Amino acid sequence: MSVGNHSATRRGAAGLRLVLLGAPASGKGTQGQKLAQSLGIPKVSTGDMLRAARDAGSELGKLADGIMAAGKLVPDDLVIRLVDDRLAQADATRGFILDGFPRTLPQARALDELLERHGASLNVALCIDLPRELLMERATLRRTDVRTGQIYHLKYNPPPDSAELAQHLVHRDDDKEETVRKRLDAYDNMTAPLLPYYQAKNMLCHVDGVGSPSEVNARIDRVIGQLSSAVTTTSAAAAHSGAAVTKGGADGG
Ligand code: AP5
Repeated sequence: MSVGNHSATRRGAAGLRLVLLGAPASGKGTQGQKLAQSLGIPKVSTGDMLRAARDAGSELGKLADGIMAAGKLVPDDLVIRLVDDRLAQADATRGFILDGFPRTLPQARALDELLERHGASLNVALCIDLPRELLMERATLRRTDVRTGQIYHLKYNPPPDSAELAQHLVHRDDDKEETVRKRLDAYDNMTAPLLPYYQAKNMLCHVDGVGSPSEVNARIDRVIGQLSSAVTTTSAAAAHSGAAVTKGGADGG
């Protein structure tokens, strides 16, 4: 699927349910934003939801704050409840992109169960691969516009030179080098085991995360394009037979 062929992508991707996997700062948020815009489905980021809860000063936010700052994972039951509530909202019935969830095997199993309750299942788990030395550079030089969630990078994607924007750019607490190292360890120990989990379900696609955001986006578009054809074909067959669409699959190559 070429980058310019979004209308075809949009049509085929209706109902697409996608998980973005990858180590901290591998580009999930950046690519998730692009995909959400081009596919017209919401990006659901547990990291963003937890940061919003923290900024709002809710009980969940207070609890999550210290855990996130330490580079550890928030307890499964809390994030599972967050995602359960979010996916029950109307916009997620058209499909969704999960960014940063699931992050543990219990979360992955809970996601399968909650989708099953709605007669649905995931279409693809897409993992963005990046060497550790690049992950560190991407995290420590990241800046985010707190008003819009727009993600910048001081070297690779610098924010526009604007005094007003500068007031709203934040350097995340957990993007300090020492904390990033702990987050990378948490990823290796807790999240990397999800790769064989989705591989065994024949849902895993790897995408090379090295290169510019547009280059990575074009690789992801190709995977989505192949997947969209599969979803469209399955949808048409199900509509013809009157059955609900519960299963999709892809081979991103
Ligand atoms: P979360 O917010 O999910 O953080 P993360 O997974 O560590 O991912 P990041 O947001 O750091 O990076 P990203 O992959 O989105 O990269 P980005 O696109 O920004 O989670 C934070 C914390 O919340 C966790 O540590 C945990 O405590 C808690 N949490 C969240 N979910 C949880 C869960 N399910 N269970 C338990 N706890 C949970 O890119 C990074 C930088 O690189 C940016 O500056 C960007 O501009 C730049 N960039 C991106 N792509 C490129 C490119 N191709 N070339 C050059 N630069 C690029």
